[in-house]
Amino acid sequence: MKKIGILHGMESTFPQAIIERINSLGLKDIKAESVLIDVVSQSEPTDYAVIIDRISQDVPFYRAYLKNAAISGTAVINNPFWWSADEKFFNNALAVKLGVPVPKTVILPSFERPADTTEESFRNLHFPLSWDTIFAHIGFPAYMKPHSGGGWKSVYKLNNAEELFKAYHETAQLVMMLQEEIVFESYYRCYCIGGKYVRIMQYEPRNPHHLRYVTGEQKQDSKLLKTIEDYVLKLNHALGYDFNTVEFAVRDGIPYAIDFCNPAPDADVNSVGQENFDWVVETAANYAIERARAQKPGQDNLTWGTYVTKAALKLSPAVEAPKAPKAEKVAAPKVAKVVAPKAEKAAAPKAEKVTEKKPVAKKATAKA
Ligand SMILES: Nc1ncnc2c1ncn2[C@@H]1O[C@H](COP(=O)(O)OP(=O)(O)O)[C@@H](O)[C@H]1O
Ligand SMILES: [Mg+2]
Repeated sequence: MKKIGILHGMESTFPQAIIERINSLGLKDIKAESVLIDVVSQSEPTDYAVIIDRISQDVPFYRAYLKNAAISGTAVINNPFWWSADEKFFNNALAVKLGVPVPKTVILPSFERPADTTEESFRNLHFPLSWDTIFAHIGFPAYMKPHSGGGWKSVYKLNNAEELFKAYHETAQLVMMLQEEIVFESYYRCYCIGGKYVRIMQYEPRNPHHLRYVTGEQKQDSKLLKTIEDYVLKLNHALGYDFNTVEFAVRDGIPYAIDFCNPAPDADVNSVGQENFDWVVETAANYAIERARAQKPGQDNLTWGTYVTKAALKLSPAVEAPKAPKAEKVAAPKVAKVVAPKAEKAAAPKAEKVTEKKPVAKKATAKA
C-alpha cells in the first residue's frame, strides 16, 4: 500500500476533495490522507510515496521537512529544492531564452537595505541607479511587483516616475521588478499538471475576485489557444513544476506570460468555479496516483526541469543569448589552513509586508 499525503494550510476545499477523490476509487495499492508531522529526524524517510505540497512557501519548517522527505524517496509535488531556488525575475529570463514572450522587465535593488547591512555592503551598486535608462526601456504605465510573491500583494500599476518613487518607498526590503504594462484584449490562467495536462481558463482580472473566471461558452481563437498551450508546456518543462499555473495577457494576438511561478496555485472552488475545480481535483488525483505507482523507495523521485537537467533546453534562434564567457580557473589555495572569509551576516527574512495602499485590485484568496 502506497500513501499519498496532502500538506496544506488554511485551504478548505481542494485538499479535502483530492483525498476524497483518491480514496473513493477504492484502489488496493493506494490511499490518501492529510500529512501528519511530529518528530522530524535527519534522513529518516516518511511513509508517504507522494506528498502534494500546498503550503511550504509560507512555512519554512515544512520546506525543510519536504527536502528531508525527498532525499529518502518521497515524490514531492512540487520539487522543494527548485521551488526554493526559483523566483519571478529568473522565470522571465528563462522565458526569453525559451522564446516565450514576456513583458520587458528589470529588477530593482530593495528600497531599504536588508537588515544587518550597511552602506558599505553596497559598494558594487551604482548609485543612483540609471533611472532614465530604465524608464526609457520599460515606459509608463508600468507594473511593479515583488520578484518573489503572489496573491497580488504589493503589485502596483504606475503612471509616472513620481508614482513609482512613492510606491518604491513603500516596498521597504522587498526586491521589486519593474515591468512594461501589457494592455490586453484577453487574459488566461492555465493549470498545468504533470507537465502534460493543461487547462486554459479565460480570466478577467479587472473583475471582482469571485467573478474573475469567465464561465459559459466563449468564442475562442483555436490558434491562440494552441499557442498558449505550447507556451504552458514549454515553460513547465523547463521549470520542472508538476503543478503550476501560467497567466497570459494577450496583446495584438500575442500571449505574454505574466505570472508563472505559482507552485501552490489557487484551486479553491469558490474562486475557480465548479467546472475548473472538478478538473483540477480529478487531474491532480490521477497524477498523484501515477506518481505513487512510479515512486521507487530510497531513490530520488522528484521532477527536475530541463533548465536543471539541461537535457532539452532549446534556445529560440531569434533570442539566442551570447555565449557566456569562459569561467576563470580558480587557483588552488596555497596554504592548507582554511581561513573562513569574513562573510556578511545573511539578512533574516522578514515577513512579507502587505502593501494595501495602492494594489491594482483586491488581494486574491490567500494561498496560505
Ligand atoms: N505587466 C503587466 N501588464 C498588465 N497587467 C499586469 C502586469 N503585471 C501584472 N498585471 C496585473 O496584475 C495582476 C497581479 O500580478 P501578478 O504578476 O499575477 O502577481 P501575483 O503573483 O501576485 O498574482 C495580474 O493578474 C494582472 O491582472
Ligand atoms: Mg497572478
